Amino acid sequence: MTDLATHEAMGDKLDLATYVPMGDKKNSEFFEEYLPRVYERREKSGLDQLVGPMAALVVQVEHGDGVDYMAELAAMGPYRFQTARLTDTHKVYVLQSQPEYPRLIVLEPLTADYVDNITRWNMLYPLARRKPNARYIGEVYQAQSTQAVRDALEPQNIRFAYPGDTVNAFYTNKNLTFTFMSDFTYNRVGYVDVDLDDLDALGLGESINLTADERGKLDRADALQSEHGVKGLVLGVDHAATRILAGDREHALLEYLTVVPYYFWGAYNIHEMNSSTNVTRHPDIGDEKKSPARVFTANNTPSIVNSFDNLPMPTEDFVRNFGRRMHHLAMAVIDGHVADEKNVDYVVRQLAEMGTPFLAKVVGECKDDPNLKQIFSKSSPYSLLITEYIERCHNFEGFFTRDNVASLTAAAGADERYEHGHVFD
Ligand SMILES: [Fe+2]
Repeated sequence: MTDLATHEAMGDKLDLATYVPMGDKKNSEFFEEYLPRVYERREKSGLDQLVGPMAALVVQVEHGDGVDYMAELAAMGPYRFQTARLTDTHKVYVLQSQPEYPRLIVLEPLTADYVDNITRWNMLYPLARRKPNARYIGEVYQAQSTQAVRDALEPQNIRFAYPGDTVNAFYTNKNLTFTFMSDFTYNRVGYVDVDLDDLDALGLGESINLTADERGKLDRADALQSEHGVKGLVLGVDHAATRILAGDREHALLEYLTVVPYYFWGAYNIHEMNSSTNVTRHPDIGDEKKSPARVFTANNTPSIVNSFDNLPMPTEDFVRNFGRRMHHLAMAVIDGHVADEKNVDYVVRQLAEMGTPFLAKVVGECKDDPNLKQIFSKSSPYSLLITEYIERCHNFEGFFTRDNVASLTAAAGADERYEHGHVFD
């Protein structure tokens, strides 16, 4: 099998035409036919040259939750507030972990009655409507020219938001452009052609400062993380996983691979959970945290036929309860030990003491062989996102082990149930 690390060690570029994807999930003939055509078209249209690594991840929270969410992030991981701008509709906060890793952009509407497409979409789903403006929006990729990206992708039926199309003008900036929300994932993809650390270049609006109280909240979260010895152990985003409906698996993959320079790394069938985990990655970046992998998880059978065999369907349930959306952001924990405890065990124990609730316990064993230890937090009350902590022991290359994913999916499924009548889904 072609291996990314080997290619990099050899200074070789991954050849998408000959790469054999990992995993045992069977794709349809349709997918096998179109995947190479998508790669070829990308090459011809120049997209691979026009678009670089991931520059930011964007999350919208409810009015009033921005600072609390940033405090939660400061306690739980590496992201720290850097700067903020005031637009006509939102406060826009930019957070940073390591300078070479993507920024995290938090959008907070200025009023409690703010409504846009996200609000309307969230209101359709029983477990999403309690925070109707909270949603992971999408990734922003560094691009040479936003206009050139639109020129390359619009003939391929990729739709972009134009000024006046959206209530929130953040999506239609000259130097920061976003696709429509995908019908398969309900995520957008954005492209930026200026340095995201130079918000003046984006002309987003006036610079705003945090109040003393707000600053105090973030400082206390940061200090708490330091006191518990967690600071420095959680590095950055390793991967981001969207949950989609069973029938949309291949469409979502082909769509994502059309709009960004990633490749289909592979897909594994998780029989116990009746789902598959499908991974796309950047081909030229050795450190995943510089351009995190994008994962798509889908049930193997749609809910409508699932009751014939009563197989598990936690992924389908999640989508029925919350709508298609990002499920978790995985944070990489540096491999190693604190005393004789693995780092991820230590981090999770400390975070639990600090008040972070987790789903079940750390899964996976890290002994002498490369392996993974992983755990899911409960979902954030602000972003609705789960945080996964992942320690790659002895440089484990993959994103999961089958056993781990089955346990994690089961744990998350138990927490994401929605009860109505006597039917649990
Ligand atoms: Fe994950």
